[in-house]
Amino acid sequence: MAAITLNPKTGKGTIHKEIYGHFSEHLGRCIYQGIFVGEDSPIPNVRGIRTDVVEALKKIGVPVLRWPGGCFADEYHWQDGIGPLAQRRRMVNTNWGGVVEDNSFGTHEFLDLCQQIGCEPYINANVGSGTVREMAEWIEYVNSDGDSTVVRGRRANGREDAWGVKYWGIGNESWGCGGNMRPEYYADLFRQYQTFARTYDSHRPFRIACGASDFNYRWTEVLMDRAGGFMDGLSLHYYTVCGDTWQEKGSATDFSLSDYYKTLKKASRMDELIAGHDAIMTRYDPEKRVGLIVDEWGTWYDVEPGTNPGFLYQQNTMRDAMVAAVTLNIFNRHCDRVIMANLAQMVNVLQAVVLTEGNRLVLTPTYHVFDLYQAHQGAREVACFVESDETGEGSWTLPQITASASEKEGVVTVTAANLDAAKETELRLTGFAAKQVRARVLTGDIHAKNDFDASPIAPRAWPARVEPDGDVTLTLPACAVAEITLS
Ligand code: AHR
Repeated sequence: MAAITLNPKTGKGTIHKEIYGHFSEHLGRCIYQGIFVGEDSPIPNVRGIRTDVVEALKKIGVPVLRWPGGCFADEYHWQDGIGPLAQRRRMVNTNWGGVVEDNSFGTHEFLDLCQQIGCEPYINANVGSGTVREMAEWIEYVNSDGDSTVVRGRRANGREDAWGVKYWGIGNESWGCGGNMRPEYYADLFRQYQTFARTYDSHRPFRIACGASDFNYRWTEVLMDRAGGFMDGLSLHYYTVCGDTWQEKGSATDFSLSDYYKTLKKASRMDELIAGHDAIMTRYDPEKRVGLIVDEWGTWYDVEPGTNPGFLYQQNTMRDAMVAAVTLNIFNRHCDRVIMANLAQMVNVLQAVVLTEGNRLVLTPTYHVFDLYQAHQGAREVACFVESDETGEGSWTLPQITASASEKEGVVTVTAANLDAAKETELRLTGFAAKQVRARVLTGDIHAKNDFDASPIAPRAWPARVEPDGDVTLTLPACAVAEITLS
């Protein structure tokens, strides 16, 4: 038996729709094959962009997409990816598999992808091996309608009007693959770069500074102290790695019950992580003007056997769905500070929502969690208090039920997950006098997955009752994620 008490009058404000964002890097088969196949491909496409993938992404309301990396961003020179295809510069993608990058997917193609999906673009500029001028001219190319040489170049490349891109990242993992910098040095670089991230017409760049990796609180402290007043957002990266080392991260599909709980326990540490970084930020920014942007998160396992180790291709099971449910509930509950998050990565890499093979496509269990949580986008967060047993194995224990709630136009949506691998539970929702309830549930064995032969994992309508006192009750099966709509 578990209970969720809703307090519809209190909450932390709006759940920014960008919390449900995604990330696409020039890595493995994310961009090429997964998203972009070129106009001449037999796979149905619009200007080279896969129609099946775009359609799938539209259905989950992808609000924002980060590009071109990741580590790749700090080796990417945007001028290489514009203009006639035959003249685009070729490079070796030294970060990811040493494959040749022919730059056939560049700025115009990315912004076309965002328009086809209907999402905001988030461009990550190169600080590690780029220059201030390079970044400044990228912003000018994309956002200006002035009659400059840079803008004439864009028009010559077929785009008359500025796109008006809002979100700009200044460096990626500058403490690591983005330049191995110390926070003091990066803070000064950030101040310099952001100065030249100019506003054109009404297009003011929302400047996102490179933030910490997981528990590196010192990075946040130094950045906020020295550059906090110059930034709009500060990023944070946290991956859920089941193994004890980066060399042995464990299999995405072949794991023990203990691994299952260990993964969920590690994922749930996102809560203390956000609280920790938020506490530091709040000392410098009590008004919470600077948003925390978790622009890389998700599970990271060993690659699928037989695949290129540099491509980071992994399958996705109900375990990953539970990680997504736990994490998105945490983001919702911290919506006063977390204003954007980007799952790594959207297609064919790490905790992908879509997998492709040739012309075939699979929607992963994680995809369906994003579907179940859609109603939270742009809704008002509703405080909820969860009472449940503990679940887990050995030292990997955590509360059996995780939940978050929001309200939009009088309709309250609760998303709740039962993390126990074997035990169903009776769930009672109290505090909102419901007249009607609808529920959908995603459930399966912890190892269950969708693949190119069969896709058994998908949400189903689920029985739920309004009790005479207005409480709502339902039976939540083991290893399940529910969307419960009260009106
Ligand atoms: O998402 C894969 C990689 O993880 C990104 O390129 C990098 O930013 C992070 O280390």
